[in-house]
Amino acid sequence: MRLFQSLLAGVTLAALVACGGSGGSDTKFSRPMPVPPLLAATVGTGGSVHYDLVAQAGTSELEAGKPTETYGYNGAILGPTLRMRRGQAVEVALANHLPESDHSDTNLHWHGLKVPGSMDIVPDLHQGIHSGETALAAFTPDQPAALLWYHPHPHGSTGLQVNLGMAGLILLEDDVSDALPLPKAYGVDDFPLVVQDRRLKADGSLAYMESMGGKDFMMGERILVNGVENPYLDLPAGLVRLRLLNGSSTRRYAFALEDGRTFHQIASDGGFLAAPVALTQLRLGPAERAEILVDFSKDLGRSLFLRSEAFAAASEEAEAGQGRGFPVMQLRIARPGTARPVPGSLTPVPRIPESEAAMTRRFGLEDTGDAVINGKTFDEMRVDVTVSAGSTEIWEVTNFATTIAHPFHIHGGQFQILSRSGGELPEGERGWKDTFLVSPGETVRVILRFQGLSGRYLYHCHILEHEGAGMMGQFEVQ
Ligand code: C2O
Ligand code: CU
Ligand code: CU
Repeated sequence: MRLFQSLLAGVTLAALVACGGSGGSDTKFSRPMPVPPLLAATVGTGGSVHYDLVAQAGTSELEAGKPTETYGYNGAILGPTLRMRRGQAVEVALANHLPESDHSDTNLHWHGLKVPGSMDIVPDLHQGIHSGETALAAFTPDQPAALLWYHPHPHGSTGLQVNLGMAGLILLEDDVSDALPLPKAYGVDDFPLVVQDRRLKADGSLAYMESMGGKDFMMGERILVNGVENPYLDLPAGLVRLRLLNGSSTRRYAFALEDGRTFHQIASDGGFLAAPVALTQLRLGPAERAEILVDFSKDLGRSLFLRSEAFAAASEEAEAGQGRGFPVMQLRIARPGTARPVPGSLTPVPRIPESEAAMTRRFGLEDTGDAVINGKTFDEMRVDVTVSAGSTEIWEVTNFATTIAHPFHIHGGQFQILSRSGGELPEGERGWKDTFLVSPGETVRVILRFQGLSGRYLYHCHILEHEGAGMMGQFEVQ
């Protein structure tokens, strides 16, 4: 393990130095950013919206000119974007066409969606869809408009399958998102950006960890946006909406525009904030999402980098290159656009009062030996927490590790962060959340309403190698 990390650290630093800080003349940034296609729906059972997904293997060009074997949905890498609407029943059929191997069983999880426990991972955590088989998920989203995502969750191979490319976006819309005067033309002034880091071997194949245990984690030196390394994107000279997913396993980003300009965060994991938040830097941990508005109305003909800036990282992450800044992609303001104002407010986000909580539970994350929560590694036969349907609880999550920030994710929809022991809660974290970073030594308090839930759900560290090593628990809603 030590050896692996040292090797990785060496490669990471070299590669990030090589891609430089302002590589206008670089050979990188020469390929356009792909926009994942919107999947066309058919009519399903009872008039529901029906989507067909096919998990398949293919060949991608992560690095220009180099073929890489990848997995994807309906294509070689990543997956199509699924549009959903609040209150509209949807069903998704997933056919597994992956070539048979010891990691070809898959399943499907709706990250951030509030669905019955029986639909949270389809068919379920333990039972994969075998190569050649199909499974069907059906549910009716009932939560605010948001950028959500889907990915496989088969215990033991989640990290490997996601690393190979399996992940896709969900755009959940509702009357509020319809009415807001925001850019919403998909691929025109409203762009999804799935940002991931990967490590390529010399032969072009994707590297992943051979064995996992304890606090091992995967970081790569290649920065991909929608499956392509360091692409460019042509944008209109107007107000542009970027919907960001940190789809990396471990890497955190501090997104900023090259010229340090102010932009506005309008949404967090679970939807719109009460009002846009002015920022020059947006931090996003693994699995977190944010939507931002950037004003390019005076920039026709210019190009600038979307970067990730350096920030203080705990020693082990710093060793793996987490503490450095680098360009993520190039934005080219290539055509005239529509200048519009950033709205003054978005939608009310009523704070859940702490007095509503029936109880407080504590979760301690430790990674000094095995990756554990409250001293235990994951056991599929054990229900760690039983909550009553309709109740409200406060969960306090403490990171007892000294070396890495753990992105803590709770299935079953959206909740709110009450406080961080590490300091003031940033404005951008005062909306709906399903994943949050817990820094070494920090305690984060969140408040959850267990409404509209039934059955079993998971909570875990979203560093997929930690999840796979057992930093995960189950709660059951009764
Ligand atoms: Cu992205 Cu268990 O989740
Ligand atoms: Cu999830
Ligand atoms: Cu972790």
